[in-house]
Amino acid sequence: MKNPFYNRDIVSIKDFQRPDLDYLFKVADNLKTNLPNDSLSDKSIGLMFFEPSTRTRLSFESAMNSLAGNSISFGDPSSTSTQKGENLSDSLLTMDQYVDAIILRHASEGVSRYASEICQSPIINAGSGSEEHPTQAMLDVFTIMKECGKVDGLNIAIFGDLKYGRTVYSLLYALSNYKPNIHLVSPKPLQLRPDPLLELQDRLNITTHDNLQDIISDLDVIYTTRIQKERFPDLQEYERVKGSYKIDINLLNQAKENLILLHPMPRSDEIPSEIDNTVFAKYFNQVSYGKLIRSTLLYLIFTENSSF
Ligand code: CP
Repeated sequence: MKNPFYNRDIVSIKDFQRPDLDYLFKVADNLKTNLPNDSLSDKSIGLMFFEPSTRTRLSFESAMNSLAGNSISFGDPSSTSTQKGENLSDSLLTMDQYVDAIILRHASEGVSRYASEICQSPIINAGSGSEEHPTQAMLDVFTIMKECGKVDGLNIAIFGDLKYGRTVYSLLYALSNYKPNIHLVSPKPLQLRPDPLLELQDRLNITTHDNLQDIISDLDVIYTTRIQKERFPDLQEYERVKGSYKIDINLLNQAKENLILLHPMPRSDEIPSEIDNTVFAKYFNQVSYGKLIRSTLLYLIFTENSSF
């Protein structure tokens, strides 16, 4: 199969189908043991994060280091000419002159698509508002594959803030390439937004639930998310729902012994630290798969004829 990622923007997970994901995962499996550690020595990436990040930013930087490439960073926007009133287009077009790909996180939906239209370099969407986080979805599906051996037929609960969590939307669209049973579990004010739900119901077997207790013994995966405080238009709305859901260690005692508990991180109080030492906790494995998937993406974006 031709490398479907070569010189490609990664703006939305909806732009990728199952054969593309299968290709990515196969190359990731091979790269894990045969990292061509000088393969990107003539390439550089530009990190433009207009919102905070730990994992996405560090994993891209670390991935580029592992492949002997360079990365430069826009840094804190308040220390750039953004502070002097420079508009986003000019900042993007400036970075575009210096690097071969741009990793972009922004609070506004549609900004990555816009950047892909004005820049020559491929744009990798590292999170856009409540809309999408496509590389997170890729690593989330890869984690499920590695930890469960498959995706088809699994009972996967998506639990938490389904309204504002961008990783939820990208993950659901990614999973719609497979045949899992999806269980949406959230407080009522944090349910999935209606339009994407309608679209996803055509592509996935989805049921909604008020709590995990009713389905815990059937589940293979629980994917939990943080309440996205920063996305609430009204802080009073946030105050009403904060702390309204949590993974309880007693609940996990009723789960299948091979259930996996995932979280895109950062977490707040929805997964208490006492759960970290249980067999269910796989969220740091997920972090580790994140570097592998992002290394593989960078390798494939820059390498037309992959030898893997
Ligand atoms: N999962 C994720 O996007 O984490 P960061 O916000 O730390 O990058």
